[in-house]
Amino acid sequence: MLIAGNWKMYKGPREAAAFCRELRDAALPDDVDVVVCPPYVSLESAVQALADTEIGVFAQSCHWEREGAFTGEVSAPILREVGVYGTLVGHSERRQWFGETDDSAGARVRAALEGGLHVIACVGETLAEREYGETEAVIRRQVGALEYDENLVIAYEPVWAIGTGRTATPEMAQEAHETIKSLLDVPVLYGGSVKPDNAAELLGRPAVDGALVGGASLDIDSFAAICRAASRS
Ligand code: PGA
Repeated sequence: MLIAGNWKMYKGPREAAAFCRELRDAALPDDVDVVVCPPYVSLESAVQALADTEIGVFAQSCHWEREGAFTGEVSAPILREVGVYGTLVGHSERRQWFGETDDSAGARVRAALEGGLHVIACVGETLAEREYGETEAVIRRQVGALEYDENLVIAYEPVWAIGTGRTATPEMAQEAHETIKSLLDVPVLYGGSVKPDNAAELLGRPAVDGALVGGASLDIDSFAAICRAASRS
């Protein structure tokens, strides 16, 4: 089981360090892999606060070139230099607000893996796509832009469930995860309004290998509770 906390645009370096110290002291279960994904400027303080622990620090994106004239972007070698272990790629908020496409996400994933980072690549349908019966086609298209790698994990995040308090039912998650696994044999996380009170049910489905948690990862008690639910699932 892998539980990843996506902090999005929350927690500067000081707050990140304080949170990571609390996480370190929270006695999280040994059988759950835990990672946090702070904003770029908070990565180094998170890495330092979590030194000598098993908790990994991931970025929220990564550019496809090693260096170059790409204002506002950060590459795998730069992330590695500050001790970052992996990165998210292709989150739906990047697709919605910053023009991320299947092709650009695929290029970022390849570069991150080649650069020695672990990757959590995000896929998932919008509400309109689900209502038009296009969920499976969208998943096939998005996953089709990726290739198998032993350091690749996919997060299935139905866009209509992100930050909305609406979660996919465990059956919907299981079905989507089975589709993904039929295309690429990699661990698949569920994401979209995962909270302490729904985590156990979602994580209990056989094709659910963990969770990508947004809002509930910002609070130490709720994030630790989700990690403990993962241990029991
Ligand atoms: P949420 O976010 O848990 O706040 O719905 C999940 C995500 O966007 O990764």
